[in-house]
Amino acid sequence: LRLDAALLRDLEGFALGVASEAALLIAERAEAGVSATKSSPTDVVTEMDRRAQALIEERIAAYRPQDAFFGEEDGNRAGSSGITWVVDPIDGTVNYVYDIPAYAVSVAAVVGDPRTPGAWTPVAGAVVNPVSGERFWARAGGGASRQRGRLGATRIGVSTQRDLSLALIGTGFGYEPATRAWQARVLAPLLPRVRDIRRFGSAALDLCHVADGSLDAYYERGLNPWDMAAGSLIVTEAGGTVSGLDGAPASRDFVIAGGACANDLNLLLQAIHEKVGPHPAP
Ligand code: IPD
Ligand code: CA
Ligand code: CA
Ligand code: CA
Repeated sequence: LRLDAALLRDLEGFALGVASEAALLIAERAEAGVSATKSSPTDVVTEMDRRAQALIEERIAAYRPQDAFFGEEDGNRAGSSGITWVVDPIDGTVNYVYDIPAYAVSVAAVVGDPRTPGAWTPVAGAVVNPVSGERFWARAGGGASRQRGRLGATRIGVSTQRDLSLALIGTGFGYEPATRAWQARVLAPLLPRVRDIRRFGSAALDLCHVADGSLDAYYERGLNPWDMAAGSLIVTEAGGTVSGLDGAPASRDFVIAGGACANDLNLLLQAIHEKVGPHPAP
């Protein structure tokens, strides 16, 4: 697999195009497409999640039939090129169901196996919020960009705020009750140490908001590759860091993304974890 500059540009342009197309589809909120069903009252999915994923998968199969596909909803496919498309057709489905305009389509091309933590790297990706008109994209080595509605595209960069007590921190909560109870115990000692906390409800957008500096940092436990594939590349290309706790790679276990305060947040979260104790086994 040779990832030359022309191919990376191509993958980036395609990711942005297909994410934008799927974003328009979900924004239509087709009749009967937005009622929720899934495994639990907190973990919801709609017919539009499935339709958006099917659209993206169809476009990818036509554009690069040799690539693999790995999305949140059913319908994964193996490939032979070494590239896998990692897709969250609607990130922020709870917002989507409630018609809160903080959801997005996330599409990324990754190299390696997205099922194995630390064994894959995103090389191009895009995140599109159809309601705010915010679009974010990046390719490896090419920097990260943002466009808002009809305004021109601009390069983005992470926050330079070093002082955690002045930092606005995003986070999110998993779907299992035991995870949530543990996350609440981690949050309690953190809250008095930072400027404030935001829980917007879309991990992909949270990462993009770290990338453009509107959040100083973000952390969450329990993310899946489709939540973070595009957003984490957008953060690193915007000059930020994405890691796990204590030097580990970002994974389901933990993701910390940020600008200048990311390292201090990492240290504080490590100290809090030592007091709170490990996450309960599922
Ligand atoms: C969820 C959102 C949410 C995060 C959860 C994710 P979904 O994705 O990104 O912000 O806190 O961990 O599962 O289910 O809406 O695609
Ligand atoms: Ca989901
Ligand atoms: Ca998601
Ligand atoms: Ca989703």
